[in-house]
Amino acid sequence: MKIIGTGSELPKKIVTNDMLSEFLDTSDAWIYPRTGIRQRHVISDEKLEDLAISAAKKALDNAGIQAEDLDYIICSNVVNEYITPSLSCIIQGGIGATCPCLDINCACAGFIYALDVADSHFKSGKVKNVLIVCAEEPSRMTSWKDRNVCVLFGDGAGAAVVSEGEGVKGIKLSAASSTDKLYQIRTLEPTPYITKEEHSESLQMKGQDVFKFAVKASSGDIKYLLDTLGMSADEVDHYLLHQANIRIINSIKDFLGQPEDKFPTNVENHGNSSSASCPILLDECNRKGLLKKGDILALSAFGAGFISGAAIIEW
Ligand code: ACO
Repeated sequence: MKIIGTGSELPKKIVTNDMLSEFLDTSDAWIYPRTGIRQRHVISDEKLEDLAISAAKKALDNAGIQAEDLDYIICSNVVNEYITPSLSCIIQGGIGATCPCLDINCACAGFIYALDVADSHFKSGKVKNVLIVCAEEPSRMTSWKDRNVCVLFGDGAGAAVVSEGEGVKGIKLSAASSTDKLYQIRTLEPTPYITKEEHSESLQMKGQDVFKFAVKASSGDIKYLLDTLGMSADEVDHYLLHQANIRIINSIKDFLGQPEDKFPTNVENHGNSSSASCPILLDECNRKGLLKKGDILALSAFGAGFISGAAIIEW
């Protein structure tokens, strides 16, 4: 399969580090050097499904195909206002498609996992065009009183249309269960029979553990793929990495021994938008004309689980 179109949509509200320091014991002087983040887009009066539908429509337009041409929709999402129906079903109705749809919850690695699901459908000959939409509102998962976590995230949606072709050279997925380092818990509806203790917790993160996992997993996934494909890091034109923290990106860059200009970033403007991060960056690079036909892209992301994934793609 190959990617034939991209799209993205961001909430209009921009929250700068200085705005956070108006109600949190934090500062741009703390956040920026440790994360590379200056501002993030945060949902205010928008609904996540509307951002997702807009990103999807832009991707279809960019691909030059219609919603009725789609054979499958995959939506990567951790949380939104609907528990059911799935966000992919809501997107399907919003864009006027009629194909089957599926939600996946693979945290920040969702775009790579979605590519892998799509790849399996192409290999089994079931589909010709698949829409992937990654839509996330992590700002609604964090406590805005917790300076350790809320400063890191931003909301948004990124989408890609994949079609028959030879673009995807390889995908590597990994998982290593570690449920106490990055998690959120919520209580469900009570019943007359529940006797166990239950509680809710906003998104909790052991930052330094996540940092170490992220660098090891992303570096390892990319290296594995390059070795398997018989390629060197030099042969990759653009490394599109999950935009969680500029220091994580720089550590992976140093591991691969590659120049900074191969690592486009938007973490400064968007923060970490979970699985939407990679496709938003891909769309921004695509629309800026940075990606030339035949360029080799390495995408890589990591997140709660822990899980991670990388893909090597010819544009
Ligand atoms: N403002 C001011 N001080 C803060 C803030 C803040 N926003 N957040 C934490 N601190 C304080 C802490 O209270 C702590 O203070 P203490 O030492 O008095 O207890 C201190 O700063 C911690 O400082 P450091 O240990 O130097 O922080 P570190 O360098 O580890 O940076 C960070 C923290 C930015 C969270 C880093 O660990 C990190 O980026 N980790 C990875 C995070 C990540 O990428 N998460 C998402 C990945 S997965 C996904 O995308 C869902």
